[in-house]
Formats: sequence, C-alpha cells, structure tokens
Amino acid sequence: MRILVLGCGYVGLVTGAVFSDIGNDVICADVDKNKVSSLNKKIMPIYEPGLEEMVRRNMEEGRLSFVTDAGSQVEWAEIIFICVGTPPRDNGETDLTQVEGAARLIGQHLSGYKIVVNKSTVPVGTGDLVRRVINETKKNGADFDVVSNPEFLREGSAIADALNPDRVVIGASSKTVAMKLLELYYTLGAPVIVTDVVSSELIKYASNSFLAMKISFINEIADICEKAGANVADVARGVGVDKRIGREFLNAGLGFGGSCFPKDVASLLHTSKGLGVEFDMLRATLAVNGERANHFVKRIADRFPDMSGRTFGVLGLAFKPDTDDMRDAKSLEIIKLIEGMGAKVKAYDPVAMPNAKKVLPGVTMCDNAYDVAEGASALIIVTEWREFRLLNMDRIKGLLKTPVVFDGRNIYDPDRIRASGFEYYSVGRA
Ligand code: UDX
Repeated sequence: MRILVLGCGYVGLVTGAVFSDIGNDVICADVDKNKVSSLNKKIMPIYEPGLEEMVRRNMEEGRLSFVTDAGSQVEWAEIIFICVGTPPRDNGETDLTQVEGAARLIGQHLSGYKIVVNKSTVPVGTGDLVRRVINETKKNGADFDVVSNPEFLREGSAIADALNPDRVVIGASSKTVAMKLLELYYTLGAPVIVTDVVSSELIKYASNSFLAMKISFINEIADICEKAGANVADVARGVGVDKRIGREFLNAGLGFGGSCFPKDVASLLHTSKGLGVEFDMLRATLAVNGERANHFVKRIADRFPDMSGRTFGVLGLAFKPDTDDMRDAKSLEIIKLIEGMGAKVKAYDPVAMPNAKKVLPGVTMCDNAYDVAEGASALIIVTEWREFRLLNMDRIKGLLKTPVVFDGRNIYDPDRIRASGFEYYSVGRA
C-alpha cells in the first residue's frame, strides 16, 4: 500500500519505519526542515534501539523517504496516518492545533478517496473534528473516511512493540473501511479489536490511565510497606501472579514520567469533567505520582540534614531506561528539590545527557558512574539502566565520601548491598 505519515515524532517515525519494513511504500512528512534533512542523511532525531537500522534498510531499498512538503504527497497516498504532536495545555486539555493543521492540509489536497487514520493519541471526539475540518477545507466532492487506530508502543522498545503488538485497535464507521486497514496489519498476526471511532479513542486513554493507576497503587502500597515493615517487591510478586491482576506495571519507585502517562491521565480527567463524570481515581493517580519525588528526597534530607554544600551523585536522567527522552523525567523533579536545598548534583546517563544538559544547567555531567560517585555524599539511582546493576560496588564505595545509596528504582538486593558495607535506602522495602 501507499502510505503517507504526517509527523516524524516517536509514533510517526516508528510507524513509517515498521510499515515500510513489512513491504509498503511509505513517505513520512514533517514541517521541521532540520529533522527531515537529518533523516534523509539517516541521522535519527531520537534514540530508539533498532530504529536507525530499520530506517536505513528501508530507505536503501526504496520503500521509505522523508519530505517536508506533505501536501504534494496526499494525492499519491492510499492511507494517510496523522501522527503529529498532541501536547497538553496547562488545564490538562489536549492541544489539537497540529491535528487540525494536518486535517486542513489533507482537505486542501484531497482529490480522490483516502482513508485518514488518527494514530496520535487524541481525545474522544477528535475523529469527528478531523472529519469536519477536512469537509470544510476540501475543494471538491472527493470522499474519505476517518479511522482511529491508536498506537501502544513504549519508548525504548518501540520497534519490538510495533512489530509484535498485544492488540491492534481499529475504530471505523464501517466494517469495509476497517477491513482495508486490517490488510495493513495482517502480517503482524496480532489480535484485532474492531469498534467505532469513539470507543477506539477511549481504549487508548483507558489503557494508559489504568497502567498509570497501577503504578500509583503500588507506590502507595510501598508507603504502607515502609511503615509496616513489609517488602513491596514481594507484595507485587504475590499480587501480580493473579492472572486477573498481572505482574507488569507494579514496580514501585519514583512514579511515572514520560510524554504519555502524565499527559494522557490529565487529558482523560479533563474529558471526563467535560462530560460531567468525576473520575476521582484519576485525580488520585496524579496526586500520588506528584508526591513521589518529594517523598524520596525527604528521605535524603532526613539522612543528610545539612544538605547545603554537599554534592550528590545521580545515576540515570532519562524518564526510563533505553531512551534519551527527558520529558517529565523524575530526575528533573528530584534534582530541582536537591538543588533547592543548597546541594550540588553530578550525574551520568548513558544516552540522555545531551538532552539533559539543556534542562539541567546546574548539573555537572560525568563520563561514567564512577566519576559520579567520586567525592559524592551519596549515590542516587533515578533511572534503572541495566549497566547500573552491574557496577563494581567495591570501587563505588571507595570513591564515595560516605557509602550511602538511595535507590529510587529498587535495582539492588538490600541484603547484598548492605553486606558490602553500604547504608542503603530503597522504596517500599523497610
Ligand atoms: C507508555 C505506554 O506503556 C505505551 O503503551 C503508550 O503507547 C505510551 O505510554 P512509555 O511512556 O514509553 O509508554 O513508557 P512505560 O514503559 O509505559 O513507562 C512509563 C513510566 O512509568 C516510566 O516513567 C516508568 O519508569 C514508569 N513505570 C513503569 C513505573 O514507575 N513502574 C512500573 O511498574 C512501570
């Protein structure tokens, strides 16, 4: 099939790469000239394992290309995916300016039947908005259908998630239109849910909100564990083996960040309010998450009441491992709190430091974890990169001013690390 992807962000780039890799002709368009020019030189704008190889291969085999002028490609395409950004406004509402712009562009260049697919995470009712905008801007009687096809990929494992999804959700006004899109996904062999557009839009928000709720739930269980002398990792394992609950997304720690959970929960809360539904669980999910950094830093301040003049070493800055994404990263909140108490911060992240430098100007970036430890009053684990589990802890102990570790992601075994002479604090493991 001939596919036009509007927007070369996370979703657009991975969608374009994967659809070309399974044999389609794909053109990805973005208004950002620098981004398109870099992509044409096979330089990726984001760090995502496996993406560069896939883009390179499909460009070289002639199935994938990048352009800035999306309008001239509308006539060529059979299916157009809208994958533009949907940032949050201050009140939690989703800003749909870019989605409307994409719909207008499609309308202006529509000359024959197209399927227009909303893949960006968009609030309930956006399918109607896109249909209305295209109808208002189109210059002839050309027909089109608007379909919702939310993306569930996670950063850091985006390629694997897109190639092997738990499900493909298609929200369409008719079975015929849904079948056309299904053809595209057929080779992936994933379970398919075909529904109406609004239900499909809601599936995405309900999924992300539920996962965020699981994380806040286990973080409050962690608070109980700390007070009651229990171990949250064991509790999560014991709870999670129940198939009705599931073990995933029950890792207690510093809470959720990233470009999706915080914004999607806020957006669903905003939507539900507009519909007259008080979604108290979502409000609590955000409130609990908003307190995690404070809760963690309070422990550091309790241990070091004289924070001022000290230096702390932070390992991990990205909002999660295997990405260079700093959006809503917990490191930002934690470092701001520590700096606010008069202490200095040294940090290391395997890939996020170039992005982190822009938003954390006061932090000294180091070449590795050992440089971070040197002379620091304590080591603070913020992002659970695999390499931090494999450190030579004897060497770390020798470099730290005081052998104290605050582990915000529970990556070390408490008995073993204490046996090696560390004072060790983690989350929900008394
Ligand atoms: C998420 C959804 O998982 C994905 O389906 C959707 O398409 C986009 O949003 P992503 O934001 O890439 O993906 O990361 P994810 O792995 O879901 O983690 C989100 C946040 O939750 C991270 O900050 C992570 O550290 C945190 N998290 C995750 C926990 O604190 N505990 C957990 O058990 C799992």
